[in-house]
Amino acid sequence: METKQEYQITDKMMEQINTYIAKYPDGRKRSAILSILHLVQDTFGWLSVEAMDQVAAILDIEPIKVYEVATFYTMFNLKPVGKYKLEFCLTSCCGLRGADDMYEYTLKKLGIQTGETTSDGLFTVAATECLGACGYAPMLRLDDKYIEHLTPESIDELIDSLRKASE
Ligand code: FES
Repeated sequence: METKQEYQITDKMMEQINTYIAKYPDGRKRSAILSILHLVQDTFGWLSVEAMDQVAAILDIEPIKVYEVATFYTMFNLKPVGKYKLEFCLTSCCGLRGADDMYEYTLKKLGIQTGETTSDGLFTVAATECLGACGYAPMLRLDDKYIEHLTPESIDELIDSLRKASE
């Protein structure tokens, strides 16, 4: 099967992938799957079926095994997302501290529904499970950063600053 060029794993990516695989000798290379999926997502922005199928071939496993991992973790994007993905924790502590209100506020402000991306391609808003920052609730994750103690005002500031950074 021919892979769409835009999701083709490159030689440069393969160099990195081989360093991940080298950490798991003795036929355990499938253990490198999470590192590889992170690399693929960081490169392409999301995990297309084409990209996941290549990962399966690299690891000598059935594609379904890759799909299972990719669909288990909310950190993996299974469709294209905006430049900024705002992931709100909506569980326990965050829920008690008003996370649902902050989430709804953000969706309304951006004029989108859960999981959707704004028409300018900048923002995707999604819900996730506890991110281990319960003492700083309510909070969201933006890439590898945590934005904590959310208020409508801090959300306004965040969105404004991200818009400015994209101009
Ligand atoms: Fe939100 Fe733990 S409940 S970070």
